[in-house]
Amino acid sequence: MNFRAAVTSLFVLISLCAGAQAQDIEAGKKKAEACVACHGASGNSASGMFPTLAGQNARYLYLQLKDYKEGRRKNPMMTAVAGALEKQDMHDLAAYFASQKQERTGFKAEPERIKAGAAKAEESLCAMCHMGGMSGQNEIPRLAGQHPDYVMTQLKNFKARERTNDAGNMTSLAQTLSEEDITNLAHWISSLY
Ligand code: HEC
Ligand code: HEC
Repeated sequence: MNFRAAVTSLFVLISLCAGAQAQDIEAGKKKAEACVACHGASGNSASGMFPTLAGQNARYLYLQLKDYKEGRRKNPMMTAVAGALEKQDMHDLAAYFASQKQERTGFKAEPERIKAGAAKAEESLCAMCHMGGMSGQNEIPRLAGQHPDYVMTQLKNFKARERTNDAGNMTSLAQTLSEEDITNLAHWISSLY
């Protein structure tokens, strides 16, 4: 293949990928109408009962939907929702929510708890996996700005071994966290944005 042909096929490949991505987001937007009631318009939920999905990593979102559908992560609401989704739906929904802008929750974190939470996170090396600023990467969730109630519920569920779809990392780490640590970490996480 000569140089020009190689460059042309590279461009075709790039535009095909970009096209597929845009289509996923468009398709996901329609499918996301089924999620608005709980996760809010554009995936910014109004209550800490429901995680904000806007701006979450697409790979993580896809894997969670798959885990709910296949029974590795259990929640009565989400098991029912995910049971009705096909693989392509999950990819489209993940692409759509990942492309949405995360909004502030409006929660007022307490300065003392933010300080204690940051110190605990440093000691526990949260950033080793969740990255600086808790922005996450690929299959590791973004935590920054998430509802504190949701974060506390998940840490408690990992600790009680009620959520076990994490290949053990969060389960063993959560054993080292007290109730107080969990509250502090949730305040700190909610303050990151
Ligand atoms: C009836 C309310 C309800 C509806 C409708 C709903 N969800 Fe959820 N969703 C929840 C709850 C509650 C949780 C947290 C469950 C848990 O603790 O595991 C959740 C969790 C999730 C998570 C995990 C997020 C994370 O940070 O780990 C994803 C992804 C998700 N939902 C996607 C969707 C999508 C996509 C739809 C629409 C197709 C949808 N949900 C519809 C209630 C709902
Ligand atoms: C060794 C890697 C690793 C470390 C260290 C780690 N995490 Fe995680 N964490 C993960 C992975 C992987 C997941 C997603 C598990 C899954 O797929 O369900 C996760 C999930 C979570 C969730 C659930 C998020 C959601 O949207 O449902 C919370 C909350 C969380 N971690 C908090 C923390 C905190 C706080 C620390 C530090 C005290 C920490 N993690 C340290 C790997 C790690």
